[in-house]
Amino acid sequence: MSKVNKTHAQWSNRFAYILAATGAAVGLGNIWKFPYIVGENGGGAFVLVYLFCIAIVGVPVMIAEVYLGKKGRQSPMRAVATIAKQYSVSNCWKYAGGMGVAAGYLILSFYAVIAGWACAYVLQSATGQFDNATPAQIQTGFAELTSSPLTLIGWTTFMLAITAAVVAKGLQQGLERCVRYMMPAMFILLLVIAGYSASYGDFSQALSFMFEPDFSKLTVHAVLEALGHSFFTLSLASGVMIMYGAYLPDETSIVKTSIWIAIADTLVALLAGLAIFPIVFENNLTPSAGPSLIFETLPLAFGQMPGGQIIGTVFFVMLVFAAFTSAIALIESSVAWFVEKKGYGRVASAVLSATGLWLLSLLSIFSFTGATWANFDIMSLQFSLFDVIDKLTSNIMLPLGGLLIAIFVGWKVRQNDLAAELKLPENAFKLSFILLKYVTPAIVLIVFIYMTRIINLFK
Ligand code: TRP
Repeated sequence: MSKVNKTHAQWSNRFAYILAATGAAVGLGNIWKFPYIVGENGGGAFVLVYLFCIAIVGVPVMIAEVYLGKKGRQSPMRAVATIAKQYSVSNCWKYAGGMGVAAGYLILSFYAVIAGWACAYVLQSATGQFDNATPAQIQTGFAELTSSPLTLIGWTTFMLAITAAVVAKGLQQGLERCVRYMMPAMFILLLVIAGYSASYGDFSQALSFMFEPDFSKLTVHAVLEALGHSFFTLSLASGVMIMYGAYLPDETSIVKTSIWIAIADTLVALLAGLAIFPIVFENNLTPSAGPSLIFETLPLAFGQMPGGQIIGTVFFVMLVFAAFTSAIALIESSVAWFVEKKGYGRVASAVLSATGLWLLSLLSIFSFTGATWANFDIMSLQFSLFDVIDKLTSNIMLPLGGLLIAIFVGWKVRQNDLAAELKLPENAFKLSFILLKYVTPAIVLIVFIYMTRIINLFK
């Protein structure tokens, strides 16, 4: 996985690709972010819109991105540029790929901070700090962690350093092998935790919260958030799927693998919700607690279930790993950019990239520690630099990137070429093509236009 523009580098088989792409897709977005945005946006109706976005927008865009990678066989910008040239369309389309690289970079700047929280929780869990703890104690513990800049900087530095080290050394292959066991294990563990939550927590209220849509709670902003998150969670519009597609063996079906990745990703997110919300309702916690949600709920379950100290520790280790495999994919495109564009070596590129990320991560860290320069109150809207980076990427850059990719593949690539590659039955192809060409751009545009009219993109 180290040389992006080697045309002959390939995944050893279809399964290796699915695992690596699922490893990139499944991460903090599923286990940390999904539950808290479901909580913030009122539950069922949001989940329904989210599932709709994954199926109608996410999967077609994923197919388009992997197609671009497979045909272009290079890093995102170059792959798009090559294909643009082939169809004699403007070279500017390559910036759709370039924006993805920038979005990935910004995402990693806060992703590493949250992964750092998970690292801290591994230690806390292993040392028994959650044993029989009350909700108040756990909340205080979380507040202490997130208000201590030095601790946060320490863990973030650790995450960025190991990410850069692995990418510099090109050790991903070894890591992918490790993930092969971690991913299924994590799935099983989530099932166990969800099972425990179901019996100990208020499962029926959790079920009705997550799956009984109450459309009166759905705002336009929630729709944008669901759309943005469907891109975030599938790792779309951030360069990686184009990059991974570049290594896809010729005979692998883009459509089938994309659907599998989307299903696996969605299942993990839903399971995380089912593990968390029963605990929330049982303990009268607020579902709309925000980014702290899983860190304030799961420890409660671990503190009370038999063997919770071990299960909790293993869970947070896996969460760190899930974040880590995503972090590696996130940093890869910026490292590749330094290597290709600037001609630096891999090690120098990884160090440069990580240093920039470290500086950027300070913006998020100080947002959490409450530093006034990182938190604003403008026109009664309260937001932090973390909110700005999070919303700028998820709610603006990713949907915009997805829109451009859908337009590029739907309108600029010759339909017959796409059909020849996707090898779908005629009606299925027609349907996917219509989704990509008309439905995806229309949905993203409509949501954008609505949002700019009420200008609360950053809410
Ligand atoms: N999908 C990842 C998650 O849900 C986050 C992510 C977004 C990502 N874009 C990416 C990961 C690009 C790797 C590469 O946690």
